[in-house]
Amino acid sequence: MISKKMAKALNKQVNAELYSAYLYFSMSSYSSFIGLQGFAHWFFVQAQEEMTHVLRIYGYLNSVGQHAVLEAIEGPPAKFESAIGMFEATLKHEKKVTAMINNLVNLAASEKDHATEVFLQWFVSEQVEEVDSVNTILAKLKLAGDKGGGLFLMDQEVGARVFTPPAGLVMP
Ligand code: FEO
Repeated sequence: MISKKMAKALNKQVNAELYSAYLYFSMSSYSSFIGLQGFAHWFFVQAQEEMTHVLRIYGYLNSVGQHAVLEAIEGPPAKFESAIGMFEATLKHEKKVTAMINNLVNLAASEKDHATEVFLQWFVSEQVEEVDSVNTILAKLKLAGDKGGGLFLMDQEVGARVFTPPAGLVMP
């Protein structure tokens, strides 16, 4: 059984991960709307990954004697300036999520909640990977340019992303 304080903080993260999925579904739909099917695919895969992050925490809460408390999810923006604008917003968002995960780790450590601290290590590594991959795409986009042939090639490149459902998810 984890503390109520820890459970409340994890529930806040469930909401943040659901918002992440909302944000990337919105970016996916907008990308498709402006003819960038590769970007639409990349953001759709990203949103699917966010849903697996939700499920990891959701399952963990039950496995440690707590439960998910679902709250209203804030609506994300519906329109974006450009492909670069979407990736800049993605990078900013992922940095924010990284800070939230680090705060959760700090809380688990201060509570001497070793199980939750170990559980959160997966998210610590995942955030490093996410920020790195977004940084890489953003750098390439800046080199290729946000229109014309460069953007067309980037659309093809990011469109090759594959969603791999992670192993080890605890389902009810
Ligand atoms: Fe679930 Fe993109 O962090």
